[in-house]
Amino acid sequence: MTNIILLGPPGAGKGTQARRLVEERGMVQLSTGDMLREARTSGTEMGRRVAAVMDRGELVTDEIVIGLIEEKLNGAHAGGFIFDGFPRTLAQADALGALLDRHGLKLDAVIEMQVDDAALVSRITARSTCGNCGEVYNDLTKPIPSDGVCTSCGEKAEFKRRADDNEESLRQRLMEYYKKTSPLIGYYYAKGNLRTVDGLAEIEDVAKDIAHLLG
Ligand code: AP5
Repeated sequence: MTNIILLGPPGAGKGTQARRLVEERGMVQLSTGDMLREARTSGTEMGRRVAAVMDRGELVTDEIVIGLIEEKLNGAHAGGFIFDGFPRTLAQADALGALLDRHGLKLDAVIEMQVDDAALVSRITARSTCGNCGEVYNDLTKPIPSDGVCTSCGEKAEFKRRADDNEESLRQRLMEYYKKTSPLIGYYYAKGNLRTVDGLAEIEDVAKDIAHLLG
């Protein structure tokens, strides 16, 4: 069983690679971004509270996201967990460490996906996802099929764009990443967990690099 964190700025490709690891290795993806978007869609009180914060590209409080992860992490899973977009602050990283300890789990690797900011704008503004299964598309590199049938789930789907996928929110998301999340690189380096991959490589090549790291 392998438990990993995918760490990187918005658009680094965390979700894209996480979905592959779920399919190829039977891992469980825990994406706090997806959980928060689900709360918004289902109209929960928490979902309403976080909506404007997310649209502005700011981070939701530690308390909320730690609570979401606590709910989902009930014990070991044979395939292991992928933490996607969590932790994002030092407080979240400490909380995750304590939670894993409590369940007798260990963190095997923190994979930093290195990208350069210039690539992120076009990746983010060109992104869409299948409303049925969440498969990630990109107008430039992986366009929506012309027949509207998702290549992953095989369903005729509605393809959605995120409210925070615009240049202004992205600028704020990047600022949040550099101020609050990038210190985690040093944190996990010091713990001996940090590994890096070139997130600017082709999707297939990034996947191969991650597979190589996981053995
Ligand atoms: P979240 O949903 O986690 O968004 P994010 O971190 O900004 O990351 P993204 O989902 O935008 O990017 P990604 O790295 O997954 O890239 P993807 O694979 O889609 O968070 C959203 C918001 O929720 C936050 O702003 C915050 O408000 C809140 N939140 C979430 N977690 C929180 C936490 N822990 N604490 C506090 N607040 C939290 O790829 C992007 C595009 O690029 C796609 O179109 C894809 O096809 C393309 N692409 C991917 N890889 C490649 C490649 N190698 N080459 C070319 N194109 C590629």
